[in-house]
Amino acid sequence: MPIFKKDKKSKEKPQVTPENPRQIINNCKIGEGTKVWNFVNIYGCEIGRDSMVGCFCEIQKGVKIGDRTRIQSHTFICELVEIGSDCFIGHGVMFINDVYPPQPDPSEWKKTVIEDGASIGSNATILPVKIGKGAIIGAGAVVTKDVPAGAVVAGNPASFIRYRDGMKGE
Ligand SMILES: CC(C)(COP(=O)(O)OP(=O)(O)OC[C@H]1O[C@@H](n2cnc3c(N)ncnc32)[C@H](O)[C@@H]1OP(=O)(O)O)[C@@H](O)C(=O)NCCC(=O)NCCS
Repeated sequence: MPIFKKDKKSKEKPQVTPENPRQIINNCKIGEGTKVWNFVNIYGCEIGRDSMVGCFCEIQKGVKIGDRTRIQSHTFICELVEIGSDCFIGHGVMFINDVYPPQPDPSEWKKTVIEDGASIGSNATILPVKIGKGAIIGAGAVVTKDVPAGAVVAGNPASFIRYRDGMKGE
């Protein structure tokens, strides 16, 4: 019994790893050592080496993820998101590119950049912002503004708590 519907627009066959037919991985570039768990829907994205994608994640086309980055289960990563290396993206993190939905014109969507070493707590919502190197986002935060490197922020809207030890002004 088929476990996926073929994208009618795409001539490419969905790429389903033979060892694990529960994964749906379509037209992705995935580095060596990267582990993708079951029941994902990831298409047209690039993931570096030794990273991990947990169950029930969706990662849309054009997304780039670096090396050794962990994407925990139930996370949604939309188009126009770029995530660096050594990042931690917690469970159920939601990224946003369409600030006034539904906006059918993709040129109106906005990008998000997560720099190397950033850590995003479970259930955070990330509007189109830049999150600096090594920053920490608290669980359940709604991030509406850029976060400086090394900052710890939390709440809705997310506000500054402190800098990580030794990271002020990086
Ligand atoms: C944001 C976080 C890193 C802050 O940790 P911390 O620096 O030790 O902060 P503290 O616990 O000392 O709290 C400092 C203040 O921020 C508040 N706070 C902490 N985490 C918060 C959060 N997620 N949302 C809202 N407020 C938060 C505290 O209530 C406290 O407020 P107060 O000063 O008014 O009492 C941590 O609480 C957090 O949310 N980590 C993410 C965990 C996670 O999602 N892990 C995923 C894998 S299981």
